[in-house]
Amino acid sequence: MKKRIAIFISGRGSNMVAILDNIERGKLKEVCEAALIFSNNPEAKGLEIARERGYKTGCIPSKGKQREEFDRQVVEYLKSFSPDYIVLAGFMRILSPVIIREYSNRIINIHPADTDQFQGVGAYEWTFNNKLEETKITVHFVDEGVDTGPVIGKRKVDLRGAKTLHEVEERGLAVEHDFYSEALYDVFSGRYKFN
Ligand code: GRF
Repeated sequence: MKKRIAIFISGRGSNMVAILDNIERGKLKEVCEAALIFSNNPEAKGLEIARERGYKTGCIPSKGKQREEFDRQVVEYLKSFSPDYIVLAGFMRILSPVIIREYSNRIINIHPADTDQFQGVGAYEWTFNNKLEETKITVHFVDEGVDTGPVIGKRKVDLRGAKTLHEVEERGLAVEHDFYSEALYDVFSGRYKFN
């Protein structure tokens, strides 16, 4: 059975686009379908892209809402879509236990750094400021900490010769776009096993 996924975004949605491409004609074709593209930000560019591509989109604005209050609304909203997994793709809001417990081990995130080295927002800036010659992209399950959940996989990014933050980001994103779908494939196909 194909897994039903809800992709969560807050902005431009380039990882979402890469995942949708892989669902339509790539490595995710046999293992999942996108039941919903969801955002906390009504202005998210990615929502428009998803809509144009014919996907069901939904938005609950989070601005000014307390974390638990927002998360309760999201849990309620998601019920009619019955997603098997929530895939965070540039979702810029920390989730509370309200949603994490409801979807225990079924929320996946991509973090643009090695989660052992750097957690939280601003990973590419940190990577650039520390002049790293190599970084790693991490795909992991979401637990109640920030970027602390079980790691599904990490993929290296070669940064030798990268001179600007833009270049660091560009190289990182190219890896993200490829690697996220690979890691998702491992989970949805049952290849990934929890220890
Ligand atoms: C990506 O770098 C992702 O790893 C991070 O936020 C960024 C989102 O970019 N969590 P996009 O919206 O997928 O283009």
